[in-house]
Amino acid sequence: MILLEPTVEYARQIKEFRRELLLCSDTMDGTGALKMYDDPERWIAFVTACKDPNKVRPGLVPATQFICVREEDKKIVGMIQIRHSLNPFLEKYGGHIGYCVSPGERRNGYGTKMLKMALKECRKIGLEMVLVTCIRGNEGSRGVIMSNGGIYESTVFEKNRGLYLERYWIDIS
Ligand SMILES: CC(C)(COP(=O)(O)OP(=O)(O)OC[C@H]1O[C@@H](n2cnc3c(N)ncnc32)[C@H](O)[C@@H]1OP(=O)(O)O)[C@@H](O)C(=O)NCCC(=O)NCCS
Repeated sequence: MILLEPTVEYARQIKEFRRELLLCSDTMDGTGALKMYDDPERWIAFVTACKDPNKVRPGLVPATQFICVREEDKKIVGMIQIRHSLNPFLEKYGGHIGYCVSPGERRNGYGTKMLKMALKECRKIGLEMVLVTCIRGNEGSRGVIMSNGGIYESTVFEKNRGLYLERYWIDIS
């Protein structure tokens, strides 16, 4: 599997990935607001701008969006997003990294592998401690974090969504 920044070459697959996630009405963590973008080319333009400190929307921190592509058949099996720093919301609830795996490709180890690869990208942008959060009871996400050396710090309650979030730190220094 490889992590790639999205390009129009993957437009059709991005549309299909979005469709599958919407059908199962799952959370779309780490997809850079893909839910809002029916047009994959507009989404690519949006996430590309999000990486640029001069173009990112006020209040947001720069973030890099990756699609996770299985090399054998070039299929997008997941998406993962790295936020380059933490603002007060991310520090408490969102963390540095969000991710999701295509519903039909889960429990094959892709989530664990994606996070492992994303941590290498985090090092490239100079991070040493990475915060990853997961909704309490999300055993898949917890497994992904623990397999990548996550150390539990605390559980917080996010009022807006009425959810308890577990916060884990991963030392990549
Ligand atoms: C969470 C998610 C990314 C996991 O992806 P995945 O590819 O299935 O993860 P993996 O196959 O690497 O599994 C990681 C571990 O969790 C376990 N696991 C995965 N799904 C599980 C589930 N539904 N229930 C219990 N355990 C589960 C696996 O067995 C594995 O455990 P192991 O390391 O002991 O073998 C995926 O379920 C998903 O996209 N969910 C919706 C979005 C989401 O919740 N994102 C995370 C936000 S923080």
